[in-house]
Amino acid sequence: MNATGRAGWMSALAWLLAGASVAADATAADEVPRPQLEEARKATTELLGQIRGELVRAIETSGPLRAIVVCKYTVPEISAAVSRKYGARVTRVSLRPRNPALGWADVWEQKALLAFEQRVARGEKADGLESFEVVNEPAGRFVRYARALPLGPLCVHCHGPPEQVSEAIRSALATDYPHDRAIGTELGQVRGAVVFKKPY
Ligand code: HEC
Repeated sequence: MNATGRAGWMSALAWLLAGASVAADATAADEVPRPQLEEARKATTELLGQIRGELVRAIETSGPLRAIVVCKYTVPEISAAVSRKYGARVTRVSLRPRNPALGWADVWEQKALLAFEQRVARGEKADGLESFEVVNEPAGRFVRYARALPLGPLCVHCHGPPEQVSEAIRSALATDYPHDRAIGTELGQVRGAVVFKKPY
């Protein structure tokens, strides 16, 4: 083998090895290690627990119409506080959001939500459906996590089929959210997801 031939062979080998290591990285990139997964579950459960506490209290003491204020002002605050605590983005998103500023799902979340809807359409229960992955994005690697939020009896007041949402609530929502897309989910269907996103 002459020098040129050997150089060619060596660079082909280097290319193959580089290719192999990229492939190995790509596989590792998909797995969320157990501690990160547990952290995502903990943060999202904490967010939902606090939202639920505020919502139930407001509905019991002043009724669902007054509870809209909780969703509009208190929930974004709770979400910001939990996000700061975990150094992550911890919030709720939807394919049909009420609040376009906070509620739109990004590309990864849209895929997770569509997969949840497909699984529910095939007969699985929405409760507890999860999706998680480490993904490479233009600005770096992130742990991504989503858990389905089924429409429960408490949510019907403000997100249920139009005939089950009171006239008073519909008009209050129309004033506060002129582009509301979050009415019309059936009981047990996917209303949205609670999500966690953190640099990894
Ligand atoms: C009292 C009315 C009310 C009730 C009850 C209620 N929501 Fe909402 N929900 C809202 C409002 C208002 C917003 C928009 C909040 C904002 O401005 O960020 C919202 C936003 C959301 C979002 C964020 C995405 C979006 O559409 O903007 C999700 C997900 C959601 N609600 C799910 C639920 C679930 C699940 C339940 C039942 C456990 C529930 N909601 C109960 C009024 C309500």
